[in-house]
Amino acid sequence: MRPRRVTVFGAGYVGLVAGACLSKSGHTVTVLDVDEKKLVSLRGGVTPFHEPGLDEIITGSIEAGRLIFEHPSNVTDFGEYVYVAVGTPSTSTGSSDLRFISAVVEQIVSTVPAGTIVIMKSTVPPGTGTALAKRLEAHGIGYVSNPEFLREGNAVKDWYETDRMVLGGNPETIDKVAELYEDILAPILRCDIPSAELIKYASNAFLAMKISFANEIANLCNTVDADVTTVMKGVGLDKRIGGSFLNAGIGYGGSCFPKDTRALDYLYSVNGHHSPLLKAVIDVNAFQRRVPVTAIRHRLGDLHGVRVAVLGLTFKPHTDDTREAPAGDIIRMLLVEGAIVPAYDPVGVMDFESDQYTQVGSVEEAVRDACAVIVATEWDEICDADWKTMTATMAEPKLVFDGRNCVDPAAVRAGGGEYVGVGRR
Ligand code: UGA
Repeated sequence: MRPRRVTVFGAGYVGLVAGACLSKSGHTVTVLDVDEKKLVSLRGGVTPFHEPGLDEIITGSIEAGRLIFEHPSNVTDFGEYVYVAVGTPSTSTGSSDLRFISAVVEQIVSTVPAGTIVIMKSTVPPGTGTALAKRLEAHGIGYVSNPEFLREGNAVKDWYETDRMVLGGNPETIDKVAELYEDILAPILRCDIPSAELIKYASNAFLAMKISFANEIANLCNTVDADVTTVMKGVGLDKRIGGSFLNAGIGYGGSCFPKDTRALDYLYSVNGHHSPLLKAVIDVNAFQRRVPVTAIRHRLGDLHGVRVAVLGLTFKPHTDDTREAPAGDIIRMLLVEGAIVPAYDPVGVMDFESDQYTQVGSVEEAVRDACAVIVATEWDEICDADWKTMTATMAEPKLVFDGRNCVDPAAVRAGGGEYVGVGRR
């Protein structure tokens, strides 16, 4: 593979993973960000978030002289390819805020020479890229939509072992972009720009739908005395359905599924369509976060002054990301109910303006003297803790609400506690 010179706009999650992995593949990469403090720590090999394997790649590439971090105003030579990987956060209507994209594209138009190819990695609503491509083409700059399918905590592996590479644009420009990825052995889907953009939203919405579906079935399992883990195992063994993303629990969080399902819903409504299925996915997810607090209130009654521990603050394990994590809503609800909330997470941090909330240093400390415990993230350290001993240190009625179905119910019962899972016997 011929090494290329690449610039990446945005040292956020996607931009850093893309920049690091492209440099590991042999390309020379400049990652741009306007945050000087972030640039200083990145130059020292320190990433602003927890992502397995990423620090090592960054350090190795910096040492090899293939990765540098710069402020956009200090760069004059952008190389042959320019990635856009800036944020597209939700607005209050659910639509995507494209201000950062517009600012970067304006800078590209005024600084980048004709013949450069812009590769869109940010998740942008279908239709966005067609307009951007037109604007860039007027300056002789090519455009390809190349959505990312990286999972936090697994991003480096997902970069190299992706199930598919989606490239949307005109065939000649796509061919040039494909040359960057010769070491990635994934099928390439070549298509038009809006289809590439919609593949990203449809994929995330479909995965979110699988989770909400499993959660709805879980809620029925409680009523008919079935076990959701067994039911979903049986469902997932059908190859047409597949077994992944069928784990029932307190729902999905993070910076992607909630934002992208809302943005897709907005896209439907703003175009005069109705999306009942998508609305149901979002609705089930919101409901699912209330399940633990409802169950605890049902068992314990008034929660004023009652100690309820929350274990796990991140939206999933192996990340320090707490954005839209179910734990956040659960803690807010508990605080409104007047509960005293000790919380624990191996790496994630959450702050609440309340004397009733404290983040403590261990699972055991959080659980001790609590009347109820909510498991909100399936960290190994939480699931594999000594639940028999720990439950024995709790106060009556020693209720363990396992929001991720990852704790051994027998151990909780052996410690004198009551176990409640999500659709799990
Ligand atoms: C998700 C997608 O999986 C990636 O393909 C995509 O690239 C990324 O969004 C994105 O758009 O950038 P991520 O948000 O990192 O990745 O996390 P996931 O592993 O997909 O988990 C999302 C949420 O679903 C978590 O809160 C997790 O606990 C929950 N989940 C997942 C379940 O509740 N049940 C499951 O069976 C699976």
